[in-house]
Amino acid sequence: MQEQIEVMKKASMLEIANAKDLKQLQDIKVQYLGKKGKLTTVLRGMGGLSAEERPIVGKLVNEVRDRLEEEFTKKEKQLEKEELQKRLETENIDVTEPSKKTKLGSIHPITQVIQEVEAIFLGMGYQIADGPEVEKTFYNFDQLNAPADHPSRDLQDTFYITEDIILRSQTSPVQARVMETQKPPIKIICPGTVYRSDAVDATHSPVFHQIEGLVVDKNIAMTDLKGTLEMFAKKCLGENTKIRFRPHHFPFTEPSAEADVSCFVCGGKGCRVCKGEGWIELLGCGMVHPNVLRNCGIDPEVYSGFAFGFGVERIAMAKFGIEDMRLLYENDVRFLKQF
Ligand code: DAH
Repeated sequence: MQEQIEVMKKASMLEIANAKDLKQLQDIKVQYLGKKGKLTTVLRGMGGLSAEERPIVGKLVNEVRDRLEEEFTKKEKQLEKEELQKRLETENIDVTEPSKKTKLGSIHPITQVIQEVEAIFLGMGYQIADGPEVEKTFYNFDQLNAPADHPSRDLQDTFYITEDIILRSQTSPVQARVMETQKPPIKIICPGTVYRSDAVDATHSPVFHQIEGLVVDKNIAMTDLKGTLEMFAKKCLGENTKIRFRPHHFPFTEPSAEADVSCFVCGGKGCRVCKGEGWIELLGCGMVHPNVLRNCGIDPEVYSGFAFGFGVERIAMAKFGIEDMRLLYENDVRFLKQF
C-alpha cells in the first residue's frame, strides 16, 4: 500500500508540473484531493490494514496530502502570473488613439445666482436651511399668519394636492419650520423651488425659485434689515447700488416693505432693463410678525426678527440682461453657455 501511495504521489506531481492552465490544475486537484479523489479513497481503504501498518500509512497519506497541497498552491501562483503576463502582452492599449471629446456644460444662470447669494450670506454668518417643496398649508399659510381668506390661498393661485397639502407657493414656510426646531439666535437663508398656478409668459412661470432670509435674536430692528439688504445689494449687484424701501403688506411681517435697487445697468437714469424707472423691484421684507414668532414658540416680548424673500429669476434676468424668462427653462445649450 505504501508503494501504491508513493506511485500516486509521483504521478500527481508530474501532472501538476505539466498543468497548462488554472482550469486543468483545478481538475487535477479534484482528482487527487477531492472528496472522491484518489488519496481519499486510499484513506478509506485503511480499515483493512493491520494495527501496526495503520499509523504508518496514515502518516504517509497526511505527508503526501500536505506536499501535494503545497505543490498545487505553488503551481497555482505560477499559472496566475503567467496568465496575467499573457493578458498584459495581448491586451495593450493604443494611447495614440484620438479620444472622444466630452462636452462640459456650464453652470445654469439660476444656479449661479443661488451660489453667489449663498456665498454672500455665508460670509455674513448665515446658515443655509432647506424645507420640503410638497408642503402643508399649515406651514405655507397658517403658521405665517395668512388668514383663511387670504388671496394666495385661493385654488386659482396655488397648486393643491389635497385640502391641506400643496406645492409650496413661497420659501417662507421654511421660516416657520426653522423657528419651530431652532432656538434664537437664528440667521438663515433658504434657496428653493416654488410653485404657483401662473400661465407661462415672458415674466411668469408656474415653477420658479426664491431665496428666503430670516434673522431672529434679541434687539433686532428695522435698521438691521436695511443694513443687511444694502450690504447684500452692493455685493450682489455692484458697489454703487442704492436701495429704497416702499411700504407694503405681507401677513407675516409688520411693518412690511418692498425694496427696490437702483438700476445697475443705467445707474438710475432710466433704461430698457429698468423700463425707464431707474429702480428695479428686488424683494419683499419686514419685521417678523409677533403672531408668527408666537406660533413657532418664540416669545415676541423677548425676541424680534426680520425676514425677506426674493425671486431668483428676476435677479438672474436683470444681472444677465435676459428679457424672456422662458429662455431659462428651455435648456438650449447655445443660450445657456453664454453665461
Ligand atoms: N414670500 C413672499 C412672496 O412670495 C416674499 C416675502 C416677503 C418673504 C416678505 C419674506 C418677507 O420673508 O418678509 O411674495
